[in-house]
Amino acid sequence: MHKKAIITSALPYANGEIHLGHVASTYLPADITTRFLKLCGVEAYYVCASDDFGTPILIQSERENKTPAEYVSHWNRRDCEDFAAFGIKFDYFYKTSSPENIEFVQEVFAKLDAAGHIYKQEIIQFYCKHDKKFLPDRYVRGSCPYCMAEDQYSDLCEKCGRVPEEITNPKCSLCGQTPTKEKTDHYFFKLKNFGAQLSEWLEKNDGLQKDVKKYVQNWIKEGLIDWDVTRDIHWGVPIPLEEAKGKVFYGWFDNHLAYISTAIKFLDEKGIDGKKFWNSADIYHFIGKDIAYHHYLFLPAMRMGLECEYKLPDYIPTRGHLTLQAKKLSKSKNWYIGLAEFLEYYPADYLRYYLVSINPYSQDDLNFDWDDFTTRINSELIGNLGNFVNRALGFTQKAFDGVIPDPGSPDEMDAEAESKVGRFAPDVRLLLEQNHLDRALKKIMEFSSYFNQYFQHKEPWKSGPGTAACVYNSANAVYCIAVAVSPFLPESAQKIWEQLGLDGKASDSSWNDITYGVKPGHKLAKSAPLFAKVEESDIAKYKEKLGPQK
Ligand code: MF3
Ligand code: ZN
Repeated sequence: MHKKAIITSALPYANGEIHLGHVASTYLPADITTRFLKLCGVEAYYVCASDDFGTPILIQSERENKTPAEYVSHWNRRDCEDFAAFGIKFDYFYKTSSPENIEFVQEVFAKLDAAGHIYKQEIIQFYCKHDKKFLPDRYVRGSCPYCMAEDQYSDLCEKCGRVPEEITNPKCSLCGQTPTKEKTDHYFFKLKNFGAQLSEWLEKNDGLQKDVKKYVQNWIKEGLIDWDVTRDIHWGVPIPLEEAKGKVFYGWFDNHLAYISTAIKFLDEKGIDGKKFWNSADIYHFIGKDIAYHHYLFLPAMRMGLECEYKLPDYIPTRGHLTLQAKKLSKSKNWYIGLAEFLEYYPADYLRYYLVSINPYSQDDLNFDWDDFTTRINSELIGNLGNFVNRALGFTQKAFDGVIPDPGSPDEMDAEAESKVGRFAPDVRLLLEQNHLDRALKKIMEFSSYFNQYFQHKEPWKSGPGTAACVYNSANAVYCIAVAVSPFLPESAQKIWEQLGLDGKASDSSWNDITYGVKPGHKLAKSAPLFAKVEESDIAKYKEKLGPQK
């Protein structure tokens, strides 16, 4: 672990609301990781931005009779609100259409061009005679030439994850007619030339997931194709050449550069040398597996083309897709749950708890299931953690007037409890460092469950000789839980913190504090249940709202 870190998560397209699928795979894991690093004393910053350019956004703004700029600024604002309500705490949230990013992208292009990594070529592009438009990317749909999946956009096959060179059986996505082909000049980035260097980088970088590396290496073996970075549309970063007037960059040329330009703007404004910080920090890019191609190939190759003037990522935590009731999410079929909507039903921490516990550090898809959600919240979050906290603190109130007693000398059970406290912080920390957020949360739950049983066995309500030690150990276990769980469940951690009678914020403490932190004589504040049960009748309603299961 280095002393500095920059964390990013895939920039959300400014093109519709954030839903559970987005937060499960990228924003939540990145947020938890950042909060954890901060607790460990790392100078960590979580930066993000709305992804404003690209053909889908232009198409949608045209449909809604808005200028693309109006359209994206609406979604930028809305995303910020939704993320904040979910406890996703960015240090800075900006936009790819910022003047800083535009300038940076143009500079990067000029440098790549000067270094010989760019060439111009006349290409034949789909053109719709009816709409009088060139038809890049999503303007065309057809079949994927690699896996034959039907009805795919021409720029990315959602089935196999590859970027087709030319889509089969093309149709204009505006009017459905078969497009013609016309000539136009485009600029290409020589991705092909980076195969060997990329392969070597993947090989030696231990921070990257093994299974992802394997299939990315396969893509390299199959042969990379040079990458057309031009679009004949009017919404994007203008190509900074006189001869290229009216052309803009492909969205995937400019968007990931906003990781850098946004971080640098934020840091420079704080009076920190942004570029220097970037190059001495651990760099994390959290993504979903659908954009592995872009993050393991395009993005590093572009940085290599700049002679690594900005260092490459150390970690690209890549997770699977969320399904809903075991069916693929689909906005058009209304088979999804918006983040804002969910937060009208339940507190953010319920969703954070559930999404972490079903989400391993792997490419496997994860499934949101309402019944599983109900069980996990009621029996784990409430039945275990909520119950233990309330029991330990409530009993201390009742029997000791809320004042932590002197433990006296420990018996065997107390000694075991003490050793559990000693191992807790390092065990959880190790898992978090390895990105196993689900297992780290499970460890916290096991700790809570252990102390629930300890409390039960010691029977402090009988006021026997071991009572004071039991109360002392239990209250301190609660304290350890408050700090350790704060990256996962920030609101609940804060409630526990306050019930413990502590000032300030649980999140401002330190990972090293996860030990005996409440001393004899300390007075607790009032205790109250942390959570309310999930009712099955409500769940039935929410299921119904989703519509008939397809
Ligand atoms: N907007 C893209 C998507 O949702 C992700 C962009 S990530 C970045 O698929 F690297 F380009 F920034
Ligand atoms: Zn058309």
